[in-house]
Amino acid sequence: MKAETRSDYQFINVTPYAAMVGAEVTDIDLSRPISGEVREELLRAHGEFGVLFFHDQTLSPDQHIDFAEAIGHINVNRFFKAVDTHPRIAEVRKDPDQKTNIGSRWHTDHSYDQEPALGSILYAHEVPQQGGDTLFASMYAAHDALSDGMKKMLGSMRAVHTSRRNFGKQAYGNIKDATDVGSRLGNVDAATQDSVHPVLITHPVTGRKALYVNDTFTVKFEGWTEEESKPLLDYLYAHAVQPEFTCRFKWRKGSIAFWDNRCTWHKALNDYDGQMRLMHRITLEGTALS
Ligand code: OGA
Ligand code: MN
Repeated sequence: MKAETRSDYQFINVTPYAAMVGAEVTDIDLSRPISGEVREELLRAHGEFGVLFFHDQTLSPDQHIDFAEAIGHINVNRFFKAVDTHPRIAEVRKDPDQKTNIGSRWHTDHSYDQEPALGSILYAHEVPQQGGDTLFASMYAAHDALSDGMKKMLGSMRAVHTSRRNFGKQAYGNIKDATDVGSRLGNVDAATQDSVHPVLITHPVTGRKALYVNDTFTVKFEGWTEEESKPLLDYLYAHAVQPEFTCRFKWRKGSIAFWDNRCTWHKALNDYDGQMRLMHRITLEGTALS
């Protein structure tokens, strides 16, 4: 049975994409200005579904920026190489001869910032014939499936996140072929962000609770050692990516995913050796989490 378009959205067509996360928005041309009503519903759906997918969009870099600015304020990523002509757009690129990709481990972007980015608008310029899908996982679902006892304990805890491990000098030491990554990432000296956020956050739009630790940027629980934190964090990382909590997005040239960093994780599959994948990413500013 085909999923039904949701009747509680009046100005956009929203069709759930999977049971727990994701929705497809159809009959919309993002190269054109959007009305206040459409903006409001896009943001509501973004918070509710965690990621919105759009297909068959034709956007110049300037139109991509215009859409992002219609939704929020652009956050310029410190570490990704920017598109030459458009410093506010980051390139998420894998050349045919490169082995590693960006975002291959489950994560949510920017949790190392005090005010983590709200989300990103990723636009597909070139996609492989097969492969290169992106997985998303619902951190609402991950939260909701925890026991009352675990929710209660985590509800009073905070966690420390950092950019140092992934974007600082250490990151290059961890990667066998530094040039593979070096052409895409830079600015190692700017990787000095450390942040502390509640382990369970309340989503600013939906008011729902979401699990907010991730395997890429979270270091430990505040007041705990890394060694003490690891077993519980590892438990949560495995718990949160049960297939039931996820969806898998298959890109076409012209597809867009607009995800919400507060209530989802994502993971870029690296299964298209020898092929090119080129995406443009614009990230939007977020707010402090509580
Ligand atoms: C990102 C990211 C996923 C992808 O841009 O933050 O993780 O599928 N990208 O390219
Ligand atoms: Mn990412």
